[in-house]
Amino acid sequence: MRHKIVAGNWKMHNDSKETKTLIKGVRKSIKKLSLKNTRVIVAPTFVNLTAGLKKAKKSKVEVIAQNMHQAKSGAFTGEVSASMLKSIGIQTVILGHSERRTLFGETDVILAEKVNAALESGLEIIFCFGELLEDRKSENHFTVVENQLKNALFHLEPIAWVNIVLAYEPVWAIGTGETATPEQAQEMHAFIRDVLAKKYNTVVAENTSILYGGSVKPNNAQEIFSKKDVDGGLIGGASLKVEDFTEIIKAI
Ligand code: PGA
Repeated sequence: MRHKIVAGNWKMHNDSKETKTLIKGVRKSIKKLSLKNTRVIVAPTFVNLTAGLKKAKKSKVEVIAQNMHQAKSGAFTGEVSASMLKSIGIQTVILGHSERRTLFGETDVILAEKVNAALESGLEIIFCFGELLEDRKSENHFTVVENQLKNALFHLEPIAWVNIVLAYEPVWAIGTGETATPEQAQEMHAFIRDVLAKKYNTVVAENTSILYGGSVKPNNAQEIFSKKDVDGGLIGGASLKVEDFTEIIKAI
């Protein structure tokens, strides 16, 4: 179902104490906001998930994972499976973040396997994708984005899409301070919806939440979120400060 979503991707930041303090701050600051049809999500590191879940209990704050391995179990030192996440109470996982793709070699093939493993375990997915600067410069950004979706997600049946949230994150805008303009975001989000409608149907296209990610800050969030096909944001740097994250939540 299509929701407004503000999700904080905390990456490899915050120790246990900092995680708890940040969640406490967020839950307190959103308490009085009217958040109808709006989800507030934070993604701490694996080791802080349990503490995070505990701190977020009985609040509007959802605690989710940043990644998982595609195998059910086995000799994969340092990895975490979907069922392990489920077993501690995690309901949602981020997959395909550009840092996973570029720094950890996650290909579309691996991501398709991760998508299947997550869905089989009953996890919802926030699926990230987006073009590199050179793709945009060479005007290949639409093709790149369509292929990323096709390769990792288009084997799914329409029904599976109730558990998929998309996060369009142009790589050139992540952590750089350079955002896509609201018009660029809207143009791509409309394109993505169109691709979904053609591949599946208008129900899938209209009911899928599509987030924008890449240098969303308190001073640009409102303009980006005001666009018709932008359902919220995946926020990195600005989600690490309660005040900034709250301002972005207010913007939605
Ligand atoms: P940023 O990160 O907001 O710091 O650009 C976004 C992301 O990596 O999801």
